[in-house]
Amino acid sequence: MTILIASQNKKDVSAWHERLAEHLPGADVRHWTEDYDKAAVETVLMWKVPTDFLFDLPNLKLIQSLGAGVDHLVGAALPHHVPLARIVDPWMTGSMSEFILMNVLRFFRYDPAYRHLQAEGRWEDLGTPDRFETPIGILGMGELGQDAARKLRMMEFPVMGWSRSPKTVEGVESYTGRDGLGRMLRQASILICLLPLTQETRGLIDAEIIGLLPRGAYFINAARGGHVVDADLLAALDSGHLAGAALDVFEPEPLPADHPYWTHPKVILTPHIAADTNARTAARQIAENIRLVRAGQKPNNPVDTRRGY
Ligand code: NAP
Ligand code: GLV
Repeated sequence: MTILIASQNKKDVSAWHERLAEHLPGADVRHWTEDYDKAAVETVLMWKVPTDFLFDLPNLKLIQSLGAGVDHLVGAALPHHVPLARIVDPWMTGSMSEFILMNVLRFFRYDPAYRHLQAEGRWEDLGTPDRFETPIGILGMGELGQDAARKLRMMEFPVMGWSRSPKTVEGVESYTGRDGLGRMLRQASILICLLPLTQETRGLIDAEIIGLLPRGAYFINAARGGHVVDADLLAALDSGHLAGAALDVFEPEPLPADHPYWTHPKVILTPHIAADTNARTAARQIAENIRLVRAGQKPNNPVDTRRGY
């Protein structure tokens, strides 16, 4: 049985080889650019590469996304008889919440303004903000959104979450539908995007949606660049409607060198690092999925390709 790693990064192979071997002793793990016997490939671990070669693997039993997001697969041609699974890993979820908390606190405690004051050598007290008066709205209340919501609640921020179906998370107000979205946005001092990128969510964050946020709100995007209409976000930052944005994801990636986000004074930019997949913690679930599909069962964390996530 061969496990093929189909990613742009060849160095991934050694990490996955070592970790998968702990759970699947003797597993033959190869990068898709190496030689391999097509008939021996039962599992492909996929990350952002063209999918056409999947149709040439006659014994393929599992397509496993190497990330939580599956937008790189859902829109592509896939052998639909083969189950598709994604990563849901508490380590990754914790990393994402660290990233969200870091940026919420950065904006909430006026850190960008204090950096400017420091650069100008000015000693100036901007006052102490009130967390009870700083409602936070989260778009997407799945694995990542719910964990961020709980941790923000632990810090006593008012938290609201928007999802397709209603959610019960202690202390968090749940909103659904377009009406619910509007009601949440009108109250949100900080808006966080943790949605999957689907046909329904692509371009969701446009001038109309941003315009519903109170003046001076902040925006944090750790989901996908395709959720945002960049020109509308830049216009809202330039007009002062938004006070700042922390952006981890872009379309395309890497972000082109001449993109205005790089130098925008109100943008805090990171290169898609909010929550990486960790081979050490994720190998166990991949090994379990391989065992399940070999036994003719469905994998854990399956993707509904019709729904898009
Ligand atoms: P998930 O568990 O599938 O949760 C998705 C959430 O979005 C669910 O609450 C879902 O609602 C909601 N949703 C989907 N479509 C919607 C729509 N049209 N309207 C309203 N709500 C909608 O996903 P996750 O594991 O939390 O991951 C979310 C995304 O984070 C991934 O898809 C990926 O793009 C991104 N991500 C980024 C990084 C990074 O490093 N920047 C790392 C990991 C993941 P229901 O609950 O009602 O289904
Ligand atoms: C990263 O962006 C992921 O989807 O896991």
